[in-house]
Amino acid sequence: MAGLLATLHAEGFPPAERWTAQAIGLLLDLPGHFGLIAETRGEPLGFVLGRVAAGEAEVLTIAVRPALRRSGVGRALLTALVETAAAAGAETLFLEVSESNGPARQLYAALGAVEAGRRRRYYADGTDALVLRLDIKSCGVATNE
Ligand SMILES: CC(C)(COP(=O)(O)OP(=O)(O)OC[C@H]1O[C@@H](n2cnc3c(N)ncnc32)[C@H](O)[C@@H]1OP(=O)(O)O)[C@@H](O)C(=O)NCCC(=O)NCCS
Repeated sequence: MAGLLATLHAEGFPPAERWTAQAIGLLLDLPGHFGLIAETRGEPLGFVLGRVAAGEAEVLTIAVRPALRRSGVGRALLTALVETAAAAGAETLFLEVSESNGPARQLYAALGAVEAGRRRRYYADGTDALVLRLDIKSCGVATNE
């Protein structure tokens, strides 16, 4: 699984930000960490990595294959992550996104995430990271409560 996720990650991020299969494998072995893959007829469309601990969840990374973007795959992956996190007891989801990443910011805003902080010059290209927070219970994703 880690090899496939590294391939998908490399399609979504510039070289300086790519994660190796080894790094992804180590993450997936940690408690509370999980990966979800979107696929159709066995073909991978994209993936998301997340973690849950002590009532809080986090999106570690998400990527949709370039040719398949803007068809709802990213939203479906995030929705599945929220459902997984809620089932594991999370009430709040945190996400980090580059200030310059318009598509991801739009996606997270559409789900209801709000700005909760900023990490200055966080990324390799010198851009700031925005820390976003999503209240899982009120975000509109069914959580069986
Ligand atoms: C961010 C990313 C995962 C979005 O995936 P996607 O499958 O294209 O997103 P969706 O089709 O589910 O879009 C859902 C909503 O997000 C917003 N959105 C997504 N891409 C957008 C874009 N390029 N411009 C404006 N809004 C966008 C829209 O509100 C969209 O809803 P709509 O299509 O009904 O208007 C994808 O662009 C990607 O893989 N980018 C490279 C990796 C990356 O930057 N990951 C995020 C790191 S924080």
